[in-house]
Amino acid sequence: MSMRNVCEKILLTEEKINLRISELGKEISEDYEGKEVTFISVLNGSFMFTADLLKKITIDSCVDFIQVSTYGNSTSSSGEFMLKKDLSLDIEGKDVIIVEDIIDSGYTIARLIEYIKQKNPASVKIATFIDKPSRRKQNVEAEYVGFIIEEDYFIVGYGLDYAQKYRDLPYVGVLKEHIYS
Ligand code: IMP
Ligand code: MG
Repeated sequence: MSMRNVCEKILLTEEKINLRISELGKEISEDYEGKEVTFISVLNGSFMFTADLLKKITIDSCVDFIQVSTYGNSTSSSGEFMLKKDLSLDIEGKDVIIVEDIIDSGYTIARLIEYIKQKNPASVKIATFIDKPSRRKQNVEAEYVGFIIEEDYFIVGYGLDYAQKYRDLPYVGVLKEHIYS
């Protein structure tokens, strides 16, 4: 774990995150009772959320990974989309839940949903660790949301990075401004 003091404040403690993820796992397990869910984890940001969420799922599940890149500057994305790692599993006829780290403008998830739907899954829902609804540019909503952040903060930790760093923090914090400006 990184001991550098890079956050001006901690928004979500490790304990708070664990509690919320247990609730989400229970909710998903109840909603899909008797079914099997294929989780599609969007790399790299959602690796930690995916691991912790899946430990709380009590129904049958599979997991696969996809990696996309959206172009833009380092703290916000544009509409461009490039597939860097495709799925390995065949998801045709499967009940899919896309697992994201954060929905900000919504461009990334909107393009991903389009892409996933072309593979004819039985259903597609979204689970996101963080939702920043005030920054939305695309009309997308996640069915399962860990935490809503209304303020326009740039946050790091628990998978979320700034320039590929700070993903290892076990909490979520607001990055000190002098680090990215
Ligand atoms: P969107 O396409 O604007 O919804 O952006 C989603 C992607 O932007 C996420 O998967 C993150 O990689 C990145 N992102 C957006 N906001 C933050 C943040 O506050 N901290 C770290 N990454 C972020
Ligand atoms: Mg990122």
